[in-house]
Amino acid sequence: MSINPKPLERVREFEREQAMRLSAGERPLFHLTPLVGWMNDPNGFCFYQGQFHLFYQYHPFSRQWGPMHWGHAVSADLLHWTYMPCALAPDTDADAGGCFSGSAVPLPDGRLMLAYTGVQPAGTFRRETQAQCVAVGNGTDFEKSLLNPVIRHAHLPVGYSEFDFRDPKIWREEDGTFRMVVANRHAERQGAILLLSSRDGLDWEFRGELDASRGEYGKMWECPDFFPLGGKQVLIVSPQQMHAREEFHAGYGTVALIGRFDGKNCEFTRESVQPVDHGLTFYAPQTTLAPDGRRIMIGWMDSWETCKEAPRRHPWYAQMSVPRELFLENGRLCQRPVREIERLWQDTVRHDRVTVQEETELEGVRGRLMDLSVTLLPEGSACRRFTLRVAKNAEHYIQIRCDLARGELVFDRSRGGSLRDIAHTRHVRAEVREGKLTLRLLMDKESIELFINGGERVVTSLIPTPLSADGITFAADAPIRVSVEAHPLG
Ligand code: FRU
Repeated sequence: MSINPKPLERVREFEREQAMRLSAGERPLFHLTPLVGWMNDPNGFCFYQGQFHLFYQYHPFSRQWGPMHWGHAVSADLLHWTYMPCALAPDTDADAGGCFSGSAVPLPDGRLMLAYTGVQPAGTFRRETQAQCVAVGNGTDFEKSLLNPVIRHAHLPVGYSEFDFRDPKIWREEDGTFRMVVANRHAERQGAILLLSSRDGLDWEFRGELDASRGEYGKMWECPDFFPLGGKQVLIVSPQQMHAREEFHAGYGTVALIGRFDGKNCEFTRESVQPVDHGLTFYAPQTTLAPDGRRIMIGWMDSWETCKEAPRRHPWYAQMSVPRELFLENGRLCQRPVREIERLWQDTVRHDRVTVQEETELEGVRGRLMDLSVTLLPEGSACRRFTLRVAKNAEHYIQIRCDLARGELVFDRSRGGSLRDIAHTRHVRAEVREGKLTLRLLMDKESIELFINGGERVVTSLIPTPLSADGITFAADAPIRVSVEAHPLG
């Protein structure tokens, strides 16, 4: 295997130049953006040597997807990020076509191991192929294994693809064994998640297929994650080309398969399936376990369908979601923003049990940097429809309408400023429970993350609305009581 050290050095030099020219003020307050250029999936999310590390799919030289590198940032609180030098560049035979998504795991000797997909470029008669690679380092510099790719298509039983074989997520069991879930596209069962194990992270053995789409949930499953939570086992995947069904929208999605795992026989039994996020821009999430036991998830706050022609207003393109704490409630996977967000709360404004009907503003409730909680208290009210508008000015708004009778919420950014013919609305279940319906919106300039009823459903969306549109209004078709807590963020 030949390694050419120049590409990574060139990227790091380019990053140093750019870092001096770019201003922090233009970026979102607490959502990670790439240092420069393009970003997609979160990779290698882990806690290592006292801080969180987050790597990301990265093309530093343009704001469009291109030859994939791994960008890198670190944080103590998951909200303030410091850029680190680019971690991986496509510079070996095993990954000359790109270093695709993957994960990270600390080793017992104190080093950090990265597992990623090496793409091997197409030849005259061949399509590009995908295989799994590893690199080990000190948290800044990583050395790729001379054995790469350590998992090739030849490791797999017949029927699995060498073209769609990617996104390894690795972890270490208590007995020191390495395990990996990785995505493949099976000739018959389509999107499939494979489990492999290894004693040293280099020599891997195929252990079985955990689950597959079988035409139900899309054609290829990308970016798997697999972890225990609240007495169950959760398998998260990001399917391509889904049919709309039940709560799932068409196209790219995020799916949680919840069930039981028999670790000895490597068998996963699926018990329920749900979308992870119902929004317009959320994909390829990855989780890590924080030292305090929280399972934290972060996703790419964008979508392959809409990113291609999205405006490029900044020297960087794309951002990550807020990191979210995962928990199970009544068998559902639920999410809330990491509690560290409360450290960004500025002067809190409260309106307790105020009655609203005609479209109205509430004093002190305005802005595009805000953690806003709205609790609807419809008891004794004839109200059927409640409408919240944010990022509002004379021309624009983002609308969240709750149809209380149907138990449905419509998130609608069609008046948000985009003139593109793409999806702008999502319909989500949002029921009144024990006399209330709660909405929590995290707004960070060009994005909204909406947590419904304590995070039982989440809607994530970028919004194209000019930053000067910062009004927030409340309206209903009949008087209804609401309690509002607004925490401007800074
Ligand atoms: C998901 C994905 C991954 C792949 C990466 C390439 O968004 O398609 O499957 O590894 O992006 O950038």
